[in-house]
Amino acid sequence: MRIAVYPGSFDPPTNGHVDIISRASKLFDTLVVAVGGNSSKNLLFSVENRLEMLEEICIGLDNVSIQSFTGLLVEFAHNSNASVLVRGLRAMSDFENEFQMALTNRKLAPNLETVFLMTSAENMFVSSSIVKEVAALGGDIRDLVPAPVERRLAVVAKR
Ligand code: PNS
Repeated sequence: MRIAVYPGSFDPPTNGHVDIISRASKLFDTLVVAVGGNSSKNLLFSVENRLEMLEEICIGLDNVSIQSFTGLLVEFAHNSNASVLVRGLRAMSDFENEFQMALTNRKLAPNLETVFLMTSAENMFVSSSIVKEVAALGGDIRDLVPAPVERRLAVVAKR
């Protein structure tokens, strides 16, 4: 049984994340979407809200579970019996940071493999930060995020 963990801040989840979740769920027996708080980031949504949004988005994906984690990702992966970490890659600009994270995680847990899925072309430019900025300024984000996120962003982003 192959279990993979897809970690991220998901602040908020975007169509890019949804695409990676749906594709990764077909590659592994179980996919754990792991919501982490990144202390260096200014987060808009609470962990509870991010979990809620992901639960709504992933209804129908029977082998996907949504959890939060604190501390080291490799420890969370170990406790989840996962052998794979999944990350999405958009452009070259993602690469340096992702490479550093993957190598750090491999140093900490040599048997845990990081697998990268290339983003779909239509999501190349979509990021949580861009979505938050556009929403805060009153722009249309309908094509960038799933409906449960759009609803919450409409309330939260303009505060
Ligand atoms: O969506 P993000 O913000 O790129 O996700 C980053 C995340 C949460 C996956 C990363 O910050 C993380 O793994 N944090 C847990 C702490 C940790 O294990 N750090 C060492 C490996 S980089």
